[in-house]
Amino acid sequence: MEFAGQTAIVTGVARGFGRAIVRRLARGGARVVAGDTNLPGAEETAALVKKDGGEATPCHVDISSAKSVQSMVDLALSTYGNRVDILVNNAGIQILESIEETSEEHWDRVIGVNMKGPFLTCRAVIPIMKKQGRGHIVNIASVGARNGGTFAGVHYIASKGGVLAMTKKLGKELGQYGIVVNGVNPGPSLTDMMADWPRAIVDGVVKNTPLGRMAEPEDIADAVAFLASDAARFVHGETIEVNGGLVCD
Ligand SMILES: NC(=O)c1ccc[n+]([C@@H]2O[C@H](COP(=O)([O-])OP(=O)(O)OC[C@H]3O[C@@H](n4cnc5c(N)ncnc54)[C@H](O)[C@@H]3O)[C@@H](O)[C@H]2O)c1
Repeated sequence: MEFAGQTAIVTGVARGFGRAIVRRLARGGARVVAGDTNLPGAEETAALVKKDGGEATPCHVDISSAKSVQSMVDLALSTYGNRVDILVNNAGIQILESIEETSEEHWDRVIGVNMKGPFLTCRAVIPIMKKQGRGHIVNIASVGARNGGTFAGVHYIASKGGVLAMTKKLGKELGQYGIVVNGVNPGPSLTDMMADWPRAIVDGVVKNTPLGRMAEPEDIADAVAFLASDAARFVHGETIEVNGGLVCD
């Protein structure tokens, strides 16, 4: 129970990686506030946690809105003992289109969720973590930020590059307060986000992955749990690759 007595906030929890991350942290003893725009999905995740014997509180959040993020953080404080030990920035959206097809509206929407969202959640929890003198932040970026991606649009790849840079910057700024900041770069995984990826692209990814498969949500959740735990106490400002060797250097 490496997270016993700890409070975690995870975003994008209604399905995919977020659901697996909530279940993994709760199995480790964390009490999790689980936020998503899809409240019924977040409630389903919390019900699964309960079945696992853990504790999670679902909530509606739109991470691109400062007001909505603040309500989620207030809920965590009032529900679980006035502390936030772990923040996992997982929520994200993807639009598949070429740069010529990309409207300003799509650019603003993807950057607003994928890059501004983690900024808003970090800004809201950092004062709490500073007061505690400890905290772990884990940002979910993407292997696409390193290799330009396979099929996702330019807004998505740019937003994930921003998350990588933000992880380094926050590492530099927050280490002195005992706040450990890291990230995970997942390789492609057949979650709902990837439902529109053409079969040939998916087959190509598997063929080029030395471990011979796509990522599973639990692969990502285990990496997040490591970075959120004391086992990673001297890993800082780093983003670890979880892609089966698809991109390694
Ligand atoms: N699946 C992949 O191959 C892959 C690869 C690399 C990185 N990622 C990243 O991992 C994260 C999770 O991906 P996934 O595959 O589980 O995606 P998913 O689409 O299955 O789940 C994303 C969740 O985020 C929620 N969400 C979307 N916008 C939100 C907002 N504004 N506020 C709160 N919640 C919101 C959705 O409702 C959904 O439940 C994303 O950041 C994604 O970019 C995914």
